[in-house]
Amino acid sequence: MQDDTTKSGAIARAAIAKSTRSRFFGDFTAARKVLRSSSVVQGGVGIQTLRDVDEDDVTMFYLDGKAHQKRRAAIAPFFTLKTITEKYEPVMHRCADTLISRLAQTGAADLGELAFYYAVVVAADVIGLDYSDIDWLARQIGSIIDEDGGKRPTKDFDDPDLLAFFDDVVQPAIDRRRKEPTEDIISTMIANGHKDRFIRTEVRGYAIAGMATTREFISMAAWYLFEQPNLMERFRTGSDKDQFAILDEVIRLEPVSGVIKREASEPMEVAELGPVAQGDILGIDIRKANLSEDVVGECPYAFNPDRENRIPAKSGYMSFGDGPHRCPGAMLSIHETRIFLDKLARLPELKLVSEPQLSWFRPITSYEIKNMLVTCEKVG
Ligand code: HEM
Repeated sequence: MQDDTTKSGAIARAAIAKSTRSRFFGDFTAARKVLRSSSVVQGGVGIQTLRDVDEDDVTMFYLDGKAHQKRRAAIAPFFTLKTITEKYEPVMHRCADTLISRLAQTGAADLGELAFYYAVVVAADVIGLDYSDIDWLARQIGSIIDEDGGKRPTKDFDDPDLLAFFDDVVQPAIDRRRKEPTEDIISTMIANGHKDRFIRTEVRGYAIAGMATTREFISMAAWYLFEQPNLMERFRTGSDKDQFAILDEVIRLEPVSGVIKREASEPMEVAELGPVAQGDILGIDIRKANLSEDVVGECPYAFNPDRENRIPAKSGYMSFGDGPHRCPGAMLSIHETRIFLDKLARLPELKLVSEPQLSWFRPITSYEIKNMLVTCEKVG
């Protein structure tokens, strides 16, 4: 095995080393078997604190079996390739054009902030949240993330910021759609007979699942492009296929979420792991799984968008999970990232002028990149 040359490897390993309750492993095949098994249930993201909570108060993330399948089936139409290209790509183009032209007018911006605004706008469209001011919506969503890194990613149920988010952002969107349904997730939940409380909960889940993660993916991919001028050139001049291959390699080596956990609901046998007892918490080390040579080929640490042994393109390897909980937004976020970076990469005199800093967001075992100041030639 080569040396770990990734940016987030060391910080992720240190975080995993602190988590002593779980049996960690990183074999890709075993990870697939566990995630596709019906003998496991969700075991991460603070689920232990939610065991006795009413089903309407938890997002689909925490459910399993039939209740989970039902929620997944309801949102599936919003995440097909057809819906992404026909409905959401125009939103992505419009928003990215606005943000990139703001950057061109000022000549400088924090890339993480731009990426967050962008991810917020796209996810707001999918979910069905209204806004007339991106800054306001981004601030409202940013305020519910628990920056102090509690067990769950969003603040507590009675936190004033969370209550304000429900009252000022989610409830008006629900009320409007009860009168005039549109094509979005909130309207679908209403059509399926869900109560406001249920809808508020599910929307809160998307704030973390879809927005903060996509921001990090965009920032990390941009960091690679800035550091390697040849890669930036290939991204700028290459086909969509080239761009997707580059992004797939970034998410393979630098998975935003580092760990997926499952609890064995009954004893099970996984050849690569040996016997697993009921109640065991299995921790999948996504980084390691993405380095499995039987899946990715030789030199797994090398950044190589042309890998011959790649599992299907745009797969994201294990970075979006697998099995029934596999990230529904995987394809959306890859398309979103490609469109944003494609426009960014075309700005004249584009430079990264600060040293990005990595920290760790424990609730979703993910890295966070701060301090990505970029400059470009000022226009107008
Ligand atoms: C780079 C961006 C993203 C990454 C790295 C990511 C990663 C993940 C991972 C690893 C899981 C599986 C968790 C598990 O199995 O326990 C997941 C689930 C989920 N993701 Fe994403 N995600 C991203 C973007 C999005 C977007 C854009 C959306 C929606 C707009 C989204 C919505 C969800 C939801 C709702 C779940 C829960 C699914 C379930 O439990 O069935 N994600 N995500």
